[in-house]
Amino acid sequence: MPRQSSEVALAAEAQGRDAPPFCPPTYVFTHAILVLLKGVAELGNTIFVDTLTEICKLSGAEDDDVCEGAIKLEGPIIANDLRGMSIGSKTSDLFCITFLGLCSYPAVTPFSISFPKAKPSTARPTPSGQDPIQIVQYSDIHVDPFYVAGSNTNCTKPICCRDYSAADAPGNNSSPAGPNGDHNCDAPVSLEESMYAAINDIAPNAKFSIFTGDIVDHAVWNTTQAQNTIDINDAYSRMSSALNLIYGVTGNHEMSPVNAFQTTAEGTNAQWVYDLLSSAWTQWIGASSASEADKIGAYSAKYSDGNLRIISVNTNFYYIQNYELYEKTMETDPSSQFSWLVTELQAAEDAGERVYIIGHMPMGSSDAFHDGSNYFDQIVNRYSSTIAALFFGHTHDDEMEIAYSDYSAQSFSNAVAYSYIMPSMTPTSGHPAFRVYSVDPVTFAVLDSTTYIANMDDPDFQTNPQWTKYYSAKEAYGPLASPPLGDGDELSPAFWHNVTVAWESSDADFNDYISRKSRGWDVESCTGDCKTNEICKVRAARAENNCVTPTPGVNFSKRDLDESGAVKHQDECGISVARRTLGSLVQRKELLELVAKRSGQQ
Ligand SMILES: *[C@@H]1O[C@H](CO)[C@@H](O)[C@H](O)[C@H]1NC(C)=O
Ligand SMILES: *[C@@H]1O[C@H](CO)[C@@H](O)[C@H](O)[C@H]1NC(C)=O
Ligand SMILES: *[C@@H]1O[C@H](CO)[C@@H](O)[C@H](O)[C@H]1NC(C)=O
Ligand SMILES: *[C@@H]1O[C@H](CO)[C@@H](O)[C@H](O)[C@H]1NC(C)=O
Ligand SMILES: *[C@@H]1O[C@H](CO)[C@@H](O)[C@H](O)[C@H]1NC(C)=O
Repeated sequence: MPRQSSEVALAAEAQGRDAPPFCPPTYVFTHAILVLLKGVAELGNTIFVDTLTEICKLSGAEDDDVCEGAIKLEGPIIANDLRGMSIGSKTSDLFCITFLGLCSYPAVTPFSISFPKAKPSTARPTPSGQDPIQIVQYSDIHVDPFYVAGSNTNCTKPICCRDYSAADAPGNNSSPAGPNGDHNCDAPVSLEESMYAAINDIAPNAKFSIFTGDIVDHAVWNTTQAQNTIDINDAYSRMSSALNLIYGVTGNHEMSPVNAFQTTAEGTNAQWVYDLLSSAWTQWIGASSASEADKIGAYSAKYSDGNLRIISVNTNFYYIQNYELYEKTMETDPSSQFSWLVTELQAAEDAGERVYIIGHMPMGSSDAFHDGSNYFDQIVNRYSSTIAALFFGHTHDDEMEIAYSDYSAQSFSNAVAYSYIMPSMTPTSGHPAFRVYSVDPVTFAVLDSTTYIANMDDPDFQTNPQWTKYYSAKEAYGPLASPPLGDGDELSPAFWHNVTVAWESSDADFNDYISRKSRGWDVESCTGDCKTNEICKVRAARAENNCVTPTPGVNFSKRDLDESGAVKHQDECGISVARRTLGSLVQRKELLELVAKRSGQQ
């Protein structure tokens, strides 16, 4: 490939500005970067991995071992994407958004999911009035088997509390980790076990638990199939000795390399993950649902003690950080999961069953491809009178998403479904949490959702974490709706829409929600555009409507520190080293020249 000197010059010119270039109409700048990267990818995985690793190190983004490990794992997948990509295609635009944060989202490719039967006129059932049952949800446990009490919590890696070096060793650092966890670290086993004990104390009669995924820690530069296997088996064995009946999902961190789930059309590389999960789940979902789960990490299982079906979807097939999905022409229905889901929901509707859809990534999130999210939302709309609620995790924050039948005229009267987004147990984004729902035993409508936390600021947290009630959704949000939520009422999609309307006229009520997102930890106030955008996000179970715009790649530092030198709130987005490395090309002319030099060799 010849050296693209004119494009480098253009890129360099664009670099000179204070603000990064935001989507010039010609896409010249972003295309120039892609052409260069593709040129390097065409020279082979080794050169591509070496180049990205060098950029990562030069940028000072991460410690050398983090750069090397992460890019060795992620790089070959990205190189393969680039080799197959035609610049200017929809796939290349999406790649551009994910990795460089430039340009705007391409329009959703229109596709109508086909349904075996027309939507019946059945309305959402009203609650039965019978005594509620309790169910539990927890998520994103991210247990670190290499957590060392006394090691440094202020290290130079994406997660701390490991004995990385002599300077991080217990007794040799000025920020020693307590035994039960720290905001800069993933969770020790002791925190996980204290949560299961608290669930049993607080909700001893809970009928079942929903675990919305992510077991493995965030040391993504050092994952192996062997270690993930140990982590997954250990966590499920602790869960199964503590809790009765658990419905699990396939998290993105269960895979090594992280997120990299191929579709069935590509040849499944994640069979070992599905084998592990399906054998852990058999005891709860039965052999037949488990053998379904062994195919693509998704299953449908009848709850034996009520008229409820749990459908667990594998959301990794719509996740923008699953770099296996950037095929030349991206699949409309990866692993045929949508057609399978329609079959399952139709069977449930025919049988008069209520359904909970559970999954890892909330489908309206900015982490979801707009296309997959749109198609999924069509399915939710079609079966909205059968789906009692949806439950997700992944974002680590306490959030929510409302689905509408008409996103251009959102109203309480066309709000059709509601997604509960569970905050994480791992403390990197706030205090560790779990939730107890109060549920109608007939309609399975959620009547209340109470979140419990272990407040890490309590003086006795490190000796004996206390899990206490943080808030009840009915108590906190019920009075905001007009009319206020009644005693036996469901937290319905219409109710939640009305809560968002109340937020529009009260910054204080809205900021209570913002504060709850991180369970009161490291809270920043959100007003004006921030508030408008957050409300927009809540009103979007379809990603194209969530008002999130791509953020151009940044000059990043090892750890994102705030003014006080403390580590900022971390979420999934902070983690992909390759993504951050490529993103830095947008800001760093000299690094781009290195790519140009490599792509020009031979
Ligand atoms: C403490 O760290 C220093 C380097 O920062 C190292 O030289 C020393 O060996 C370490 N001591 C222990 C006990 O690990
Ligand atoms: C990397 O993982 C291995 C297990 O696969 C572990 O023994 C080692 O301590 C980890 N390295 C770091 C730097 O955390
Ligand atoms: C939502 O608000 C409308 C008024 O805007 C009201 O008619 C309706 O009953 C409310 N529904 C719920 C469930 O709060
Ligand atoms: C963490 O370490 C950095 C660099 O060694 C230092 O600047 C910062 O103040 C430390 N933060 C805390 C909270 O100790
Ligand atoms: C990014 O950081 C590099 C090195 O610190 C600096 O040269 C460059 O000007 C920075 N770019 C921006 C846009 O801040």
